[in-house]
Amino acid sequence: MIHVSATPVLALRGVSKRFGAVQALTDVELEVHPGEVVALVGDNGAGKSTLVKAIAGVSPADEGRLEWNGEPVSVDKPHDAQELGIATVYQDLALCDNLDVVGNLFLGNELKSGGILDEVEMERRSRELLSTLSIRIPSVRIPVASLSGGQRQTVAIARSLLGEPRVVILDEPTAALGVEQTAQVLDLVERLRERELGVLLISHNMADVRAVSDRVAVLRLGRNNGTFTVSETSQEEIVSAITGATDNVVTRRNARTAQQASTTEVRK
Ligand SMILES: Nc1ncnc2c1ncn2[C@@H]1O[C@H](COP(=O)(O)OP(=O)(O)O)[C@@H](O)[C@H]1O
Ligand SMILES: [Mg+2]
Repeated sequence: MIHVSATPVLALRGVSKRFGAVQALTDVELEVHPGEVVALVGDNGAGKSTLVKAIAGVSPADEGRLEWNGEPVSVDKPHDAQELGIATVYQDLALCDNLDVVGNLFLGNELKSGGILDEVEMERRSRELLSTLSIRIPSVRIPVASLSGGQRQTVAIARSLLGEPRVVILDEPTAALGVEQTAQVLDLVERLRERELGVLLISHNMADVRAVSDRVAVLRLGRNNGTFTVSETSQEEIVSAITGATDNVVTRRNARTAQQASTTEVRK
């Protein structure tokens, strides 16, 4: 059962962004509710990364606004987004291979006690965090280089949760993963939803999108091209919104039905 509150935790209203001659985003609207997974999909160049960077304060929008729990907010730099409670996990992970899991989870936010690193407490909290998220890692004291791609991705996502965000943005979290590892990451996305977080999942993979998302927002050429409730929408409908194709399974079926109707008409 999908539980969705009325006020979105995060909303974008009329967001536009231009890079010189390129209009990357035009009047984009988007809503993410607590306890909701929204997939953001679109072809290469559709504006997904630009939208993520605008939300994350990395590259703010030119026009439009962000709303947080229904209130307008300004996000001009990454720190503003973090302060609100927006965590972003980028595609390139940014984990340090030579550091262990604890070192990566607390990288830049190390716990200290009397001026020295409190390794015991960081290790305790790491175990606790991974266990509440049902993340299985052989040891929190092994370098992340020795983990599988799926385990690395779950560590990166777990790290983003240490700041106790309300919204987590995942940029192509399963792009480089096999079936089993993808399942681990998608399970974690389910855990995030159970914790009432809003999740914005950027993905190219329709199977992943259908497996975990409640709604799908399609961007095409920098504009909204439909928002769909996954349980009520076929894959073909989503794909045709992405490609903007007029010739696809759905339109062919409609054309066929129309043709049959007119043929029947003539025979009468
Ligand atoms: N820093 C930039 N400078 C110039 N053009 C950019 C920049 N970033 C993105 N663009 C352009 O904006 C459009 C949207 O790109 P992007 O957001 O990366 O799309 P997506 O992530 O959906 O593939 C593309 O036409 C891209 O070339
Ligand atoms: Mg991109």
